[in-house]
Amino acid sequence: MYRNKVKKMVVISISSLLALLLLASTALFIAGGWLQPRHYLQPWDKQYAKRFSDPRIRLVAYGLLAANGHNMQPWIIRLDRGNANVFYLYADADRMSPMADPDARQMMVTQGTFLEYVSVAGQALGYPATIDLFPDGTYDEQHLAQSMTAKPVAKITLGRAAAQKNPLFDAVYIPDTNRTAYRPTPLTSAQKGAFEALQATDVKTIVYDDQKSVNALGKIALDSAVIEAHTARVMKEAGAIFRANEYQKNQTRHGFSFEGQGTSGLKLYFMQGLITLLPFLNSSSAASDLMIQSTRTELAHTPAYAMILSASNSRSDQVRSGMVYSRLNLTASRLGLAVQPVSQALEEYPEMQKQYAAIHDKYAPDGQTIQMLVRVGTPTQNVPQSMRRDVMDLVRK
Ligand SMILES: Cc1cc2nc3c(=O)[nH]c(=O)nc-3n(C[C@H](O)[C@H](O)[C@H](O)COP(=O)(O)O)c2cc1C
Repeated sequence: MYRNKVKKMVVISISSLLALLLLASTALFIAGGWLQPRHYLQPWDKQYAKRFSDPRIRLVAYGLLAANGHNMQPWIIRLDRGNANVFYLYADADRMSPMADPDARQMMVTQGTFLEYVSVAGQALGYPATIDLFPDGTYDEQHLAQSMTAKPVAKITLGRAAAQKNPLFDAVYIPDTNRTAYRPTPLTSAQKGAFEALQATDVKTIVYDDQKSVNALGKIALDSAVIEAHTARVMKEAGAIFRANEYQKNQTRHGFSFEGQGTSGLKLYFMQGLITLLPFLNSSSAASDLMIQSTRTELAHTPAYAMILSASNSRSDQVRSGMVYSRLNLTASRLGLAVQPVSQALEEYPEMQKQYAAIHDKYAPDGQTIQMLVRVGTPTQNVPQSMRRDVMDLVRK
């Protein structure tokens, strides 16, 4: 009798515990946004660009998929009212990242990444794009934000030609940035050659794949990430654009999210639920620790680095470097490789000055500027796509 009673109580306790666990995990998944529609991924749909009859908007919808600093998508489009083949790209001065990018250099590289996607898509769809940089002259650096608003980065004129099969175009749908570990497999000489062939006026690409250089660049990148992790205002800037759950990602379709770390599936909703219900888990010290930890893992699993250098550091050089970066990004995807920029040592804020000088002294003689430092390798894991805004948010009257 007594034994039966105990048995019954144990069964009841286990069932209550299970019910409680089920309730807690359901609450986590719901808070994380499980089953909510993912509007922020619409631009990645292969039918998305086709919805727009104006070929200019259609190409802008491809530009939107390009890699961009802090995923701020700082692009403004103005359609020429008098010429249906012309549109202008402006840098969106409200979308700068002044703490990490005080000189708005990455912001300009990001204009270039967009332009190259437009160009690749234009060629593939039969609208070859002629890109004229800074058609109204370069910026007034003393009044940079006003100047960005007043002067276009580029005038884009679309022609008409037969659509051309372009393997780079097929790669536009592959996520641009893979922050997971890469295999130790070295690059082949053909792969290295394909990257080093990527250049533009005053811009070139160099690949470092010997162990000594990989170790040296890895050390610079890690030391710089540690400095950044301890620079509170830079971390705060990045933290402020972290989107914790589906609701936030749909509301504000730019910035960072768990997808950026390669998280997907049920784990994504679980993590999002945790952070939403227990926001202290995302404290600034936790974010710093995570940044150092993940950078250490990424760099320890990197067989090669690519570097994009420009002869000077003019705004045009920065934009052209971005164009080369997009080409590098698409070339890597086409070759089954993945890339991730590691930009900290190249950033111009005071705490990073020593690192900036060290990497430039060693790798950029003769006054060149390193515009991008990028890990390259065979990924161990595919990663999900990241948020993108609606293309019509970019277009201004
Ligand atoms: C100029 C520039 C600098 C970047 N720097 C970094 C970086 O330091 N670390 C990183 O993980 N990703 C970096 N990225 C990648 C962006 O964060 C990424 O493109 C953006 O979040 C959108 O995600 P996606 O590329 O996966 O679509 C950089 C991209 C650009 C264009």
